[in-house]
Amino acid sequence: MSDPQPVYLSDYQPPAYQVTHTELTFDLDPAATRVKARLHIERHPSADSQAPLVLNGEQLTLISVAIDGNSLPDAAYQLTDEVLHIADVPEAFMLESEVEIAPSSNTALEGLYQSNGMYCTQCEAEGFRRITYYPDRPDVMATFKVTVIGNATSEPVLLANGNPINQGVLENGRHFAIWEDPHPKPCYLFALVAGNLHKVEDSFETVSGRNVTLQLWVEQENLDKTEHAMASLKRAMAWDEQVYGREYDLDLFMIVAVNDFNMGAMENKGLNIFNSAAVLTHPNTATDATFQNVEGIVAHEYFHNWSGNRVTCRDWFQLSLKEGFTVFRDQCFSADTNSAPVKRIQDVSFFRTAQFAEDAGPTAHPIRPDHFIEITNFYTLTIYEKGAEVVRMLRNLLGWEDFRRGSDLYFERFDGQAVTIEDFVGCMAEVSGADLNQFMRWYSQAGTPEIDAHGEYDYAHAEYHLTLRQRTPATPGQPEKLPLHIPVRMGLVGTKSGQDLTLTLSGEKLGKDAVIHLTDDEQTFVFTDVAEAPVPSLLRDFSAPVKLHFPYSREDLAFLLTHDSDGFNRWDAGQRLAMLALDDLIAAHRNGVEKVMDTRVVEAFRTLLTGAMSDKAVLAEMLTLPSEAYIAEQQPIVDVDAIHAAREFVRQSLAVALRDEFVAVYKANQSDEPYAPTPEQIAQRSLKNIALTYLMAIEDEEGIAFCETQFAAEHNMTDVRHALTLLVHSDRDDIASPALKAFGEKWAHDPLVMDQWFTIQVSRPQSDVLDRVQYLMQHPAFSIKNPNKVRALIGAFAQNRVNFHRLDGKGYALLADVVIELNRLNPEIAARLVTPLTRWQRFDEERQQLMRDELVRIKQEPLSSNVFEVVEKALA
Ligand code: TRP
Ligand code: ZN
Repeated sequence: MSDPQPVYLSDYQPPAYQVTHTELTFDLDPAATRVKARLHIERHPSADSQAPLVLNGEQLTLISVAIDGNSLPDAAYQLTDEVLHIADVPEAFMLESEVEIAPSSNTALEGLYQSNGMYCTQCEAEGFRRITYYPDRPDVMATFKVTVIGNATSEPVLLANGNPINQGVLENGRHFAIWEDPHPKPCYLFALVAGNLHKVEDSFETVSGRNVTLQLWVEQENLDKTEHAMASLKRAMAWDEQVYGREYDLDLFMIVAVNDFNMGAMENKGLNIFNSAAVLTHPNTATDATFQNVEGIVAHEYFHNWSGNRVTCRDWFQLSLKEGFTVFRDQCFSADTNSAPVKRIQDVSFFRTAQFAEDAGPTAHPIRPDHFIEITNFYTLTIYEKGAEVVRMLRNLLGWEDFRRGSDLYFERFDGQAVTIEDFVGCMAEVSGADLNQFMRWYSQAGTPEIDAHGEYDYAHAEYHLTLRQRTPATPGQPEKLPLHIPVRMGLVGTKSGQDLTLTLSGEKLGKDAVIHLTDDEQTFVFTDVAEAPVPSLLRDFSAPVKLHFPYSREDLAFLLTHDSDGFNRWDAGQRLAMLALDDLIAAHRNGVEKVMDTRVVEAFRTLLTGAMSDKAVLAEMLTLPSEAYIAEQQPIVDVDAIHAAREFVRQSLAVALRDEFVAVYKANQSDEPYAPTPEQIAQRSLKNIALTYLMAIEDEEGIAFCETQFAAEHNMTDVRHALTLLVHSDRDDIASPALKAFGEKWAHDPLVMDQWFTIQVSRPQSDVLDRVQYLMQHPAFSIKNPNKVRALIGAFAQNRVNFHRLDGKGYALLADVVIELNRLNPEIAARLVTPLTRWQRFDEERQQLMRDELVRIKQEPLSSNVFEVVEKALA
């Protein structure tokens, strides 16, 4: 067997044949579903008349194939494991085929599969080829008519995209439903669901006065967990009308919750399918974070109706065209609905930890890759989140009004088409007149640009000289990098006045907050009429996805922490200040020197805790130390133990020094209001729980009593889970163990709560975690076939810095064993799960060797193309 080969963007050819209309009939059966397809096919006018028809098809058993009613003899076509090749076809014809597939043995969860007995589909990116023979590429767009036939008892509900047009009863306890989707779509947006589902129904009146029926389909026991998703959907529909002028285009919009799902959710036209974890909420079972996540994902999938479905991608290299834009849209929606600064802080903090790590590792790729082996490996933080940052930069460069005009032009000009990133950026350039040529490099260059900045105040001339130098480190396949167009939003904060000073550059007054454009390798910006010595506040609101280094003193940072007018940079100054202290402590730990706490950090925290900061949500973020993963990102070589020890030392020192302040904050933010996921309540809970986190760092009796009471009160899952986590992560097993046991028994029936129960246990720092993981893998609530369980138990363990990276290598071996098993069952999940091992270069030599050994062991297996691609890059 030869190694899987990549496909290249430069090899793109338009399809020789279009499918204009697709009719499908599914006769459902767990082991032998029959799929009949009638495809109305036309040769493209400019295609060669001899062009063969090549249809994708994998894991299908072909029963019959006919053209214009004439069954094809065996000699008329060639069949391989991947394609059906028909050499001689007319200019326009009807292709009819029948295949058999086995949904019940589909553990990859691509194509048609069963989850809890229910039938469902996942076709993005290339899953439709596991349903029928078809040109499975997004630039082939057809209208669809779908007939679903199922068992009336086990599948009372039969759903597909678009509008229901007929239904009825058949013989032998069977029934059918017919659905029609009038909007031409690529086959990756096809969906079918059949099972014993129950619905919650609501409606939305669109801006032009049309009434849209909204349905959320779930298993019966989850009917009480749908309210928040439905409310979120209605908010998202209204927001897209108001902010982007986008109206929904069918009379029905459906969301279905399924338990087995590879990703968060999928934007199938009119029939979104969701991982139950991304849609179901109840105050007793879901945390604030889940409520917010659900709102964001519901909005994301809904927004795809325009950015993705009405205007789709020409090919999968353009994936960020729909994903980057849609993530940007959902981020803005969540910012508008909740606290905008907190949303930005949380997004950036995640981005700088996880996407920066990806961009610095062996799988680094541009937001438009130029080749891939397996497209599902490219649903990455780079394509999604960095893609969103690039769209955000466009918005900032053009200003909202021009950006919105560009968006309008894009949707109008390309409605119903499959297009490219150039088409999108072209609209932005056309409406604004901006030159975006250099900007396009963001799409083709991988790696995180670094800016080295320094500044000098010239008293004599009242000038501030700011020099910015950019470099992007080499990434695999891209040794040389060109300078990027980097918008740096900034201010100069006067050290006397504590106010933003007016920025004057080359005689032009720019205001107190402005964007400067770094386009060369190095540029010096001379600000004039600077009346007092300033501290620069750079990259406000994280105006570009870069690492910015500036030699701030701790005094500078303490000053920005209280005076910066940009909320994001106030938070970031605190993070930088904490990082300086952490760096010292990491060094002390490594050198075996006594650790000493930086009093400036203590005083900064005291100011925050006792000051009059009104935004509790921002305050909670400011009191949160950089995560161990983020700290690790900043180190040349990751020393997991030193990082853990340093961070714990800071947490404990702050708790000792500010115990009374934390107790006061904890007590002042109690509430017995009924739970609601409102920004105000969430802010209050976050603040209360971060205070409790500090108190538990010293495990004094009062802190433990707070946790026990909060856990026992069962007011809402946010509070219960936080208290339980703190207990389980403490050394008080005498209290933690019974609590954990009670929680596990109480929620044994609820898979989403059991996921949390798994994660809490395997994230503790104590050294018994590996044994626990092995033990929990045998627990009845665990199943290796369910991606949520794998993420909650194995994925969470691999994020446990001290225990996954044990020096005996057993953490790595456990992960490799699971990857090897999953490689056969679910290659997409296996390839994601292996990620932590691919970051071996970041660790000390001993761990490097251990991690590589496991990658080599995986490589010796017969691998799916998914796992092969990742492991191959990691070992290159
Ligand atoms: N398009 C989906 C989204 O961003 C992503 C997705 C859902 C997906 N399921 C998938 C991608 C399976 C690849 C494979 O919302
Ligand atoms: Zn998406």
